[in-house]
Amino acid sequence: MQDPTSEKFHGRLLSASGYDFAQCATCHGSDFSGGKAKKSCLGCHQEGPTACTTCHRGPAGGAHAAHASGALLGRSFACSECHVQPASWDAAGHIRDARGVVDARPAEVQFGALAGAAARFDASTGGCAGVTCHGGQAVSWRAGTPATCGSCHGVPPASHADDRCSVCHAGAGDDVRSPLHVDGVVQIGHGRTDCAACHGGVVDASGAPPPDLSGRFDRASLGVGAHVAHIKAGRLSGPVACESCHVVPATLASPGHIDSAAPAEVSFGGLARARGAQPVWQRASATCAGVYCHGSVTPSWSGGPDEATCGTCHGVPPSDSSHVSTMTLRDCVTCHPRTVDGFGSILFNNGMSEHIDGTIDGI
Ligand code: HEC
Ligand code: HEC
Ligand code: HEC
Ligand code: HEC
Ligand code: HEC
Ligand code: HEC
Ligand code: HEC
Ligand code: HEC
Ligand code: HEC
Ligand code: HEC
Repeated sequence: MQDPTSEKFHGRLLSASGYDFAQCATCHGSDFSGGKAKKSCLGCHQEGPTACTTCHRGPAGGAHAAHASGALLGRSFACSECHVQPASWDAAGHIRDARGVVDARPAEVQFGALAGAAARFDASTGGCAGVTCHGGQAVSWRAGTPATCGSCHGVPPASHADDRCSVCHAGAGDDVRSPLHVDGVVQIGHGRTDCAACHGGVVDASGAPPPDLSGRFDRASLGVGAHVAHIKAGRLSGPVACESCHVVPATLASPGHIDSAAPAEVSFGGLARARGAQPVWQRASATCAGVYCHGSVTPSWSGGPDEATCGTCHGVPPSDSSHVSTMTLRDCVTCHPRTVDGFGSILFNNGMSEHIDGTIDGI
């Protein structure tokens, strides 16, 4: 009765009887705590002999172990992804069908939602096909080889121009052993759905770094640089639109956005090109030349002061025929009254300024 190797082992007898627990219960009690036999089953089967783990001790054969906690993805898939999962041992279709007749082996494979409607298991070959988790590819249940990152999808998929997964994908991007990986949903962004899902978000939702695509916040990083000084209205001008330095995508999938490899494209437009200026982004030195806003100065994107002073971009006053060198900041208001006040401070109206707006005020 108690020797698992014996023909008369109770587990074996029970299995042969199609698990006729009722028969045992007549002597051992309906709760198996002893009954008239005064021998409890619960001393050895703490959760009761009808608990799932009494009969399913660890993973069954085939690729069950890989799906219980595969080494690569490190996550488990519920029995219900591939079987009708019984709520209790005596649920119809599990061991016995609805009429009480013992269900013939083999165990039924019936795929759940994650595997997808096209998923098929062929019991004669032991092969699965059309399973979305595997990218629809045919795989062998009984003789499969351990998966690699490239087994189910490209690294990256062929549609991608960028292979820095964690830039755009949370979950699997940050950690493939996440429950968000192989969950039937392609995770895009990092917990938000706006333009700051992959870059930016500290200053506003426009998507302007910081953080940059590598998660950096320091100005010395090219991806961060002087974004904050430009996109926030400061003491000098209203906000500088992204359009001045980039083609701005209307959506994630807009042409020119993520369809090219790093680095991000700097493509001057708008204000940067005002009055015929021909700006150039010199990535090697992280400087910009010929930008309208900066006059003849070649400012550093990732170094230098956070805010330029009067006199950096043009003289105070400029040395040309319209100005005389004795003019001071208090004189500018005479001819440029919409730009400065009598103290030479830049004027703002609802956060916007006529200073550095592409036109010369007052003439
Ligand atoms: C007709 C009453 C009766 C039925 C039916 C019955 N048993 Fe028992 N069983 C006993 C008695 C009495 C003992 C104690 C025998 C002893 O101590 O020598 C026992 C002992 C056992 C033991 C040993 C327990 C221990 O602690 O030593 C196991 C295991 C066992 N039975 C399993 C089963 C299973 C499984 C079933 C159903 C397939 C079953 N029995 C059906 C009366 C019954
Ligand atoms: C003395 C300890 C002991 C007692 C008492 C005991 N069992 Fe078991 N039972 C076992 C062991 C050991 C196994 C086999 C576990 C293994 O192979 O890893 C087992 C296996 C089983 C299985 C699994 C059968 C299968 O197909 O895998 C069932 C069902 C079961 N017992 C029912 C009962 C019932 C009902 C009682 C009480 C009537 C009972 N057991 C009492 C030790 C016990
Ligand atoms: C008394 C033994 C026993 C208990 C208890 C038991 N199972 Fe089973 N289970 C089996 C057997 C035997 C099969 C194989 C049936 C077949 O081959 O058709 C099976 C098959 C399955 C299957 C494969 C699909 C199917 O129905 O064939 C799943 C999933 C499953 N069991 C889950 C569970 C869960 C969950 C529990 C607990 C709620 C549980 N089992 C409790 C014996 C048991
Ligand atoms: C990824 C799919 C998948 C998952 C998840 C899965 N199974 Fe299975 N299972 C199968 C396939 C496929 C077979 C059929 C194997 C065969 O015919 O060779 C099977 C067969 C079985 C069998 C029959 C015994 C055997 O090894 O052939 C049992 C029992 C079983 N599964 C129980 C479970 C239980 C319990 C769970 C959850 C803990 C589970 N399975 C999770 C795919 C799965
Ligand atoms: C620049 C952003 C970006 C990067 C970097 C990126 N992905 Fe994606 N990925 C996406 C977008 C956007 C989609 C959704 C495409 C769609 O729905 O057509 C996607 C979809 C996917 C899909 C779903 C299947 C498919 O082909 O659409 C997989 C798998 C995937 N990516 C894997 C990766 C892996 C692996 C890496 C790193 C090696 C990676 N991605 C890097 C943006 C990115
Ligand atoms: C068993 C097949 C399989 C393997 C192996 C696999 N992936 Fe995936 N992966 C998928 C599927 C299916 C998706 C589609 C989205 C989903 O369901 O999460 C996906 C999506 C992704 C994504 C997009 C983000 C997401 O979760 O939606 C990334 C990134 C990714 N995988 C990276 C990897 C890396 C890195 C490895 C290796 C460590 C790997 N994958 C191994 C099946 C797999
Ligand atoms: C004054 C010019 C300027 C403005 C305005 C500007 N950017 Fe940039 N942006 C740059 C420069 C320069 C780079 C660095 C390009 C490189 O790495 O070659 C950059 C890089 C980026 C990157 C890539 C970061 C990385 O890690 O590689 C993103 C994303 C970006 N900008 C988004 C924006 C958004 C969104 C806005 C508007 C809210 C904006 N930028 C406004 C100049 C600007
Ligand atoms: C899934 C992640 C993701 C989301 C969401 C996203 N971006 Fe980007 N963005 C990137 C990546 C990656 C780059 C760098 C592309 C490159 O290297 O060419 C980038 C670059 C940029 C740039 C710099 C110019 C360029 O195209 O290279 C701007 C501007 C920008 N994004 C704006 C936006 C706006 C506006 C939105 C919302 C409509 C948005 N982004 C949403 C990933 C994303
Ligand atoms: C007497 C009137 C007058 C005063 C006072 C004056 N400006 Fe001007 N300013 C002009 C005129 C006229 C122009 C247009 C010149 C042209 O179109 O070439 C101009 C143009 C400019 C420009 C654009 C230069 C260029 O060529 O792009 C700047 C910068 C400027 N002024 C700064 C100042 C500052 C700073 C002060 C105060 C220190 C000041 N101005 C005081 C009349 C004045
Ligand atoms: C980042 C470069 C830069 C800095 C720093 C700068 N300016 Fe200007 N300034 C410009 C440009 C470019 C113009 C050309 C006119 C325009 O586009 O508004 C200009 C024009 C002017 C004008 C002419 C009126 C007008 O806007 O058309 C005045 C006055 C002026 N600046 C005063 C100042 C004062 C005062 C300071 C310091 C508080 C200052 N500027 C700092 C770039 C700069």
